[in-house]
Amino acid sequence: MMHPLCVGIDVGTSAIKAVAVNQRGDAIASEVVEYDFETPAPGWAETDPEVWWKATCAVLRQLMRDPRVAGAPILSLGVSGQMHGLVLVDADNAPTGPALMWNDQRTDTVCLQAEREITAANIWQWTGNRMLSGFTAPKLLWLRAHAPERLHRARTLLLPKDFVRLRLTGAAHTDVSDASGTLLFDCANRCWSRTMCEALAVDTNLLPEVFESSTATSRVHAAGALATGLPIGTPVAAGAGDQAAQAVGTGIVNEGCIACTIGTSGVVFAPTNSWRPTDDGVLHAFCHAIPQRWHLMGVTLSAGGSLRWWRDTMCADLVARALMLQCDPYELMLAEAALVAPGCEGVTFLPYLCGERTPHADPHARGVFLGLSARTTRGHLTRAIIEGVICSLAEVMRLVQSTGASSTTLRLSGGGSKSPLIRSLITQACGMRSATVNQPHGAAYGSALLAGVSSGVWNSVEAATATLAEENRCAPIDGTREFEEIATRYASAYHALAPWFQECAAPSARHRN
Ligand code: XUL
Repeated sequence: MMHPLCVGIDVGTSAIKAVAVNQRGDAIASEVVEYDFETPAPGWAETDPEVWWKATCAVLRQLMRDPRVAGAPILSLGVSGQMHGLVLVDADNAPTGPALMWNDQRTDTVCLQAEREITAANIWQWTGNRMLSGFTAPKLLWLRAHAPERLHRARTLLLPKDFVRLRLTGAAHTDVSDASGTLLFDCANRCWSRTMCEALAVDTNLLPEVFESSTATSRVHAAGALATGLPIGTPVAAGAGDQAAQAVGTGIVNEGCIACTIGTSGVVFAPTNSWRPTDDGVLHAFCHAIPQRWHLMGVTLSAGGSLRWWRDTMCADLVARALMLQCDPYELMLAEAALVAPGCEGVTFLPYLCGERTPHADPHARGVFLGLSARTTRGHLTRAIIEGVICSLAEVMRLVQSTGASSTTLRLSGGGSKSPLIRSLITQACGMRSATVNQPHGAAYGSALLAGVSSGVWNSVEAATATLAEENRCAPIDGTREFEEIATRYASAYHALAPWFQECAAPSARHRN
């Protein structure tokens, strides 16, 4: 008799991951299926939701065929996914167009207009947040102005993971952590904000029913089971936005700890045990995936995303060599970077390929290499990308710490945390001890734990995360000012270029004040 399992999936930006977890909290099998997102114009980012659904079917079929999983009772499924994406479906549950993603910057003008008309102060009062171009509500306003037919046909608004749930179960549901990132949510009271919807003239009939993350809300139906190999009737938990799920999966549950995730985006995340938005909304204040917990968070839009861009555009030879050596191309890229001295002989990279979110909230910012010389090699540029991403995360960390949040250890996760070079740089940049955890599957693992809580395997998220242990501990080196110089150069580069970014913005978006 095989032991019962919980399954978690994470609908990411460039891949979907699935993991099966036993009742001791061990991940016993995992699968990944990759895909790309579209960038039809600079600053735009879209995916056809059907791409996510096809990848979900493929990844779950692979997982369910794994001999460690096949035949085991599946207690429940948890879903997590990239936040803020706008998916609209019609009366037949078909998408009315591609999903506008979290890293899409086209809504700048509608954000400014909404902040003028209903005031930034009211928006903050009702939601605890600023009208940022990546959030969901401005995407709706943009469609109303530019593609109204897509809105007219829409019957339901979903976030990326919730579209996958709809296909699996037929239920239009979401959870409090993901709903927080729509800007239509009253995060303090953990319910949709009728006031905000009214102010933006958003039809509340579009909104899915919202639940706490570890609630079982629906079951896999016959078509969902046939497509994925999951048993019919498998209970599905509400789940969480990827950052809250990642926090659960790395044990970031209570106030008094801070996490940094380097995935496609980079995130600094601090849980709070009460509702305490930042005064100016400079950090996101969202519901955590745990009842009566919230969190503050700031985001570097292109963290691992910058390295992926670099790999795909400039490192084809290393990708080919990695294939021959059967290793990860990033290992070869990072080996080149490790040969270069800290500071890259004056080369600075600003990782703003998809604009900038925290701390500047500048949708017009773009990626920049500065300070090239005749000595600059690809290794310098690769290292400059890593240092630029880390400078950006260190800026976010300083904002998080300025709220009073503190932690003895910074918990690292995401693809970037696999690299000793990156782990050591972030430790120096933040001046804090760091560690990873012994379960490497992040948000997918966190959503499996939420599923476990929903089906009674554990009686709380705390209990589910109790077996996590730290590894790869790293301490800052006392007395080094190396990173301070790099960070100062980085910060002054943005300030020098900010007017130029504004000047070069597309004419339709040149109204920032
Ligand atoms: C969080 C955010 C990203 C996406 C994709 O606010 O925009 O982290 O969730 O990972």
